[in-house]
Amino acid sequence: MTSAAQLLSEQDHRDTWSLTIGKDMSDEDIEFVREAGAKLRELSQRYRAALREMVVRFEILDQDLNLRKDRTPIHHVESRVKTPESIIEKIGRYGKERTLENIEKYIMDIAGIRVICSYISDVYNLFDLLQRQDDLEIVTVKDYIANPKPNGYRSLHVIVRIPVYFLDSKQMVPVEIQLRTVAMDFWASLEHDLKYKAKREIEGIDSYGELKDCSRIIEDVEARMQILARALDSE
Ligand code: GTP
Ligand code: MG
Repeated sequence: MTSAAQLLSEQDHRDTWSLTIGKDMSDEDIEFVREAGAKLRELSQRYRAALREMVVRFEILDQDLNLRKDRTPIHHVESRVKTPESIIEKIGRYGKERTLENIEKYIMDIAGIRVICSYISDVYNLFDLLQRQDDLEIVTVKDYIANPKPNGYRSLHVIVRIPVYFLDSKQMVPVEIQLRTVAMDFWASLEHDLKYKAKREIEGIDSYGELKDCSRIIEDVEARMQILARALDSE
């Protein structure tokens, strides 16, 4: 059996998701990725295509809002396709057998896009515009802005299915969209960094409580800036 290190060094830098071998993968995981090769490549292509389609839709909305309302709601967009390593980890966490069928059925965030907006009103406005696109299927909505997670995490999560046309088929491909403001993104990025390091109590600092408190402060600042922006806009 080939070792992970060996495969990693074989790996070239093209978009060959199917050959992406993570350093934490077991020999069994690597074997699965190799055997599923062709099918995985097809899956990868499908999710990448869906991601591009979704990114373009947001670009078009941003441009049109700019043209017609003199607004640029989108600060920037990030996108990624989940690595095989992370897919395998998740299917295990869901307690499902590691098959391609289960991956397609249960992993809804293989294609993921993060839309970072200036203001909360932009987040909901974009969501509203998305809901009006009648070829998009909205699968789930989790509003962690209205209902932040206990740790203070805030964002609007929407899973959609977007149609992608191939040679002989149309496929509705799931994409996870995380809509958030720059302030929410700032908090989430730092929290993501810290949560692996931070123990609950470090030398008398309650890091969990601190992060939660920061989230509340950021929420306040954001609300004030939104009010200011509205007032300036109406001038
Ligand atoms: P998963 O099975 O992990 O997808 O759980 P879920 O379906 O309940 O996920 P949820 O929609 O709550 O969140 C999925 C994604 O949101 C994560 O992969 C992160 O990108 C982001 N996220 C969720 N919670 C947090 C958090 O507490 N901190 C940070 N930094 N990101 C989070
Ligand atoms: Mg999820």
